[in-house]
Amino acid sequence: MRITIPYRPRKIWNDVLHPAFDRYRFGVLVAHRRLGKTVGSVNAMLKKALLDEKISPQYAYIAPYRNQAKMIAWNYLKFYASKIPNLKMNESELYIEIPTKHKGAVGARIYIVGADKPDALRGTYWDGVILDEYAQIKPELWGEIIRPALADRKGFAWFIGTPKGQNQFYEKYRESRSKEDWFSFLFRATETGIIDDEELADMKEDMTDIEWRQEMLCDFTVSAFNILITIDMVEKAVERKYSEAQVRGMPCILGVDVARFGDDRSVIVCRQGEVVYSPKVYKGIDNMELVARIIEEIRRYDPIAVFIDAGGGSGVIDRLRQLGYTNIIEVAFGSRAEDPDKYINLRTEMWHKMADWIRRTGSLPNDPELKAELTVVEYGFDNADRRKLKKKEDIKKDYGASPDIADAVALTFAHQVVIAKADMYNSSLTRCNTDYDPFGV
Ligand SMILES: Nc1ncnc2c1ncn2[C@@H]1O[C@H](COP(=O)(O)OP(=O)(O)O)[C@@H](O)[C@H]1O
Ligand SMILES: [Mg+2]
Repeated sequence: MRITIPYRPRKIWNDVLHPAFDRYRFGVLVAHRRLGKTVGSVNAMLKKALLDEKISPQYAYIAPYRNQAKMIAWNYLKFYASKIPNLKMNESELYIEIPTKHKGAVGARIYIVGADKPDALRGTYWDGVILDEYAQIKPELWGEIIRPALADRKGFAWFIGTPKGQNQFYEKYRESRSKEDWFSFLFRATETGIIDDEELADMKEDMTDIEWRQEMLCDFTVSAFNILITIDMVEKAVERKYSEAQVRGMPCILGVDVARFGDDRSVIVCRQGEVVYSPKVYKGIDNMELVARIIEEIRRYDPIAVFIDAGGGSGVIDRLRQLGYTNIIEVAFGSRAEDPDKYINLRTEMWHKMADWIRRTGSLPNDPELKAELTVVEYGFDNADRRKLKKKEDIKKDYGASPDIADAVALTFAHQVVIAKADMYNSSLTRCNTDYDPFGV
């Protein structure tokens, strides 16, 4: 029987990739965005399924998220399989079934699966899998679930994607290059000719250098960990000055990083609008003395909020509240970010807000320690593509100290402070123990 599917492979697929996919059991394809990785590999799998002579073959196309897989690959699969006679489709379980030579047996199934819902992959065998956008798939999935399930029937596995730092995808790519029986490709947008030169030039304009190198040139080295705040950014912020008149009337926020066990520095920082004042650094003082210092700063700046690191500061927070200070806000670095899809935790989020502020409008004091600390924090991405920061312990190990002063500045960005109009003129902190005076403006 002759079955024609409505697919015309692009030249690179016809000449190079389909022959490799047909031939090798394992392989890695690293390629730029829009090369046709998903379309090509789904069709390669469809062909395998159509020609499979085993009883009830099962294939899986796996993408990082089920929703994304459904939106993209499921539609491709339905379209390219649409001309196959006696095709069955299961929309709720996301598989298609095509007849095989085995009469009476279940046909060949191709499932669409999200790595975020891996239960669909457990407890069965697979004749072949595609791991698409593998840089964003949990690395355990392969060893714990997929690889054992390929053993019964010698199933194939193809790892496909665009780089995202030196993670499991990079490891697989390196592995594939050293193995005779794996295919291994890396295609850059400037080499394949799939996206024309004019469009490429346009894209380059619109992308950051890091994005361009990663997404289009398939550079694995750009995003492992990146400096969040460069020394250039810091120097510009130190040179950026505001006049007293520009700052007057702007709300003040205090950030307090409290000494933790094994670390004896406490830091108080005041940010007034766009200006951070010289940090106060205290060594070897106890909580009660720190409370006294904070009260001094509260009297001096009349802040609308005091953000205190909850990690070492719970005693300090309790004491200030007991003394009647309101607007004392406890900040747990590890707690949930306000934008949890973008940042792994609050610490990451406030450092990013601070970085943005330094880049755009912030004015920093010329403090050598602060300047050094700001530039030692690096960021990367987790498997769900959220931003994360290098761990504090690792910074301490590499830099020799924890960035307490910079953390205190970052604390002033912990939450958006809503400034009620009245508070702008009549901030309540220093008056919290006195009677409210409506004419005290
Ligand atoms: N062989 C093909 N014929 C026609 N269109 C294709 C073909 N391969 C890919 N495309 C189209 O090119 C675009 C990118 O394909 P896709 O497979 O999603 O790329 P990638 O996964 O590499 O980012 C899509 O719009 C897709 O429909
Ligand atoms: Mg794709």
